Amino acid sequence: MRRKIVAANWKMNLDIIEAAEWLGEVGAQVHEGSCEVLVFPSFVMITDLMDMYQGEHIVFGAQNCSHKESGAYTGEVSATQLASIGIEYVIIGHSERREYFSETNEMLREKMEVAIKSGLTPVFCCGEPLQVRNENKQKEFVKQQLEETLFGFSGAAVAEMIIAYEPVWAIGTGLNATAQQAQEMHAFIRHEIAGKYSLDIAAQVSIIYGGSCKPDNAKELFNCADVDGGLIGGASLNANDFLAIIKVASL
Ligand code: 13P
Repeated sequence: MRRKIVAANWKMNLDIIEAAEWLGEVGAQVHEGSCEVLVFPSFVMITDLMDMYQGEHIVFGAQNCSHKESGAYTGEVSATQLASIGIEYVIIGHSERREYFSETNEMLREKMEVAIKSGLTPVFCCGEPLQVRNENKQKEFVKQQLEETLFGFSGAAVAEMIIAYEPVWAIGTGLNATAQQAQEMHAFIRHEIAGKYSLDIAAQVSIIYGGSCKPDNAKELFNCADVDGGLIGGASLNANDFLAIIKVASL
C-alpha cells in the first residue's frame, strides 16, 4: 500500500549503546500521526532494540538476508530466521551489496524469493552509477534491474513492496539527486510497473528516494508527486537529523 515512509539504514554503524540512545530519542517523538518509520540496524542488535522499544510506531528491519533458504552457509542469515524474530522488512539490492559483495540481479531475485516466501516485505534498491548517469542511460539501467529482479514476481507481491531509488553517485557523497531527477526516475519506475502489471499496482507501490537525503533537502524531494519518502543513510545516524526528516515527511 502506498504511504509516506522514512527509513534509517544505519549500515555498519552504531554500537548497542549508541543505538539505544538513538532509540530513546527518536522513539519518544515518533507517534501515531508520524509517517511510517522503519529502522534497519545491524543483525546483532535488532532483537535487543526491539525489546527495548516500548512504542508501536517504529518498525524494525534487516539490512540483508541470504539468497539461500537454510543449510551449510557459514555466516549467512536466512529470511526465515529474520521472520522468526519478528522482523517485517529486509533491504535487498543495496548498491553497497551489489558493488562490494558482488550481488547480481539474479542473486537478488533469489533473495526476493526467499524473503517473500518467509513473509518479509522487501525494500528493493535500484539505481545507476555515475558513469551511467553521465551517459544519460540511467533509465535503461534501472529498467534492467527491475526486469531481472523484480518483474518475475506477482503484481500482488510488487504492490506490497517498497522500492528505493538510490542513485549510486548520490550515496554518501553529499550530492543528492535534484527533485527533478528524483521525480523523473520515480515516475519512470512507476510507469514501468504500470506497463508490466497495471496502473492499479503502480499506484499502490511505495517508491522512496535514497542518496544524501538530509533535513535541508528532504522537503523538496518528498514534495515530488512520485516520491513516497526516503531511505536515509548518514543523516539517519543522528537522532535530531532523522527526526527532522520524519517531521518533513509527516506534514
Ligand atoms: P546516504 O544517506 O548516506 O547518502 O546513504 C543513502 C543510503 O545508501 C541509504 O540506503
